[in-house]
Amino acid sequence: MLIFPECNVEQRSQKTTRLSQADDSPLLCLEHITQRFSVGGSLWSRKKTLTAVDDVSLTLARGESVGLVGESGCGKSTVGRIACGLLSPSQGRVVFDGRDLPPAGAKSWAVGRIQMIFQDPASSLNPRLCIRSSVAEALISKNMQCEKRKECADAILADVGLAGVGDRYPHEFSGGQRQRIAIARALITRPDVIICDEPVSALDASVQAQTLNLLRDAQTRLYLAYLFISHNLAVVGFFCRRILVMYLGQIVEEAPTEEIFTAAVHPFTQALLAAMPNFTRKNKADNVLRGELPSPLALPNACHFHPRCPKVKEICRKEAPPWREIGQRHYVRCWQLL
Ligand SMILES: Nc1ncnc2c1ncn2[C@@H]1O[C@H](COP(=O)(O)OP(=O)(O)OP(=O)(O)O)[C@@H](O)[C@H]1O
Ligand code: SF4
Ligand SMILES: [Mg+2]
Repeated sequence: MLIFPECNVEQRSQKTTRLSQADDSPLLCLEHITQRFSVGGSLWSRKKTLTAVDDVSLTLARGESVGLVGESGCGKSTVGRIACGLLSPSQGRVVFDGRDLPPAGAKSWAVGRIQMIFQDPASSLNPRLCIRSSVAEALISKNMQCEKRKECADAILADVGLAGVGDRYPHEFSGGQRQRIAIARALITRPDVIICDEPVSALDASVQAQTLNLLRDAQTRLYLAYLFISHNLAVVGFFCRRILVMYLGQIVEEAPTEEIFTAAVHPFTQALLAAMPNFTRKNKADNVLRGELPSPLALPNACHFHPRCPKVKEICRKEAPPWREIGQRHYVRCWQLL
């Protein structure tokens, strides 16, 4: 059970008030985000432009969990890094709590309010720092005395089930415990939003469930919003209220979780569902995903999914399908049903 330390009493009481005033107004908005990277370039070859994210828009309300799911290399982490201000997009805006996020690297008024948890917690923990110092480090920007920071770190470590081990070093912990330390490090600044980038993919199934429960517990108590990134639709389905499906840099379908599992329309979403071991659906075999994800350096014309789509029509190769609403908060980018 999470017991929050006495530090940040003011923020805690604000969040308790917010809990009783739940609303759907957007807290974090990504508006028409495009991210291009310049790659290659040598004596023998020219630089090429890779489009990792192509006109992605999404919103996250206070206390909401939104899932972003797609194949490896489709641009999920790039969206995550842009959403928390680690990367400035080539085009588009990120609006947090009504204000534009400052460019990546600039001093930010939002520091600590949007946190990120990565797949590999070891990479975000300094091996030379004891875990108490690693966790307390996140509070340096808060102008808090060293002793107070350590006190808060011990308390938050106890909250995530790691009481009395603050003097130990990252290598002394298992993968699941290290992810708990990373979660403590994210929670200690009392963020409004956490971007979780494949937070459980490196963990055993039993530890995955414990970690997801810990994140859920923290959400209820702190009224956190999560952007939950994963290639695993089952995990996203368990954790999120709404799901966005991404393919080659674009969002191809967005709907409430229940709707994705019962009434997905986009053939790529249907293929992800068909790949789930326990998912039973008529024509499951027709939906199995064929071929590899094409390179983002050479995006297929019109509908990016057309070379792999079992339902491809002539128009799919000629014109990009529009993004349209087909039900309550259900959107799709596909020529079907038109
Ligand atoms: N800094 C960079 N420079 C050049 N290309 C990049 C950079 N970052 C990402 N990319 C490319 O952008 C595309 C999307 O990468 P991204 O890491 O966002 O995908 P992902 O969906 O998170 O994949 P995974 O599931 O494997 O983590 C990939 O082709 C990747 O090689
Ligand atoms: S637009 Fe056409 S090719 Fe693209 S997903 Fe829909 S049916 Fe398939
Ligand atoms: Mg990634």
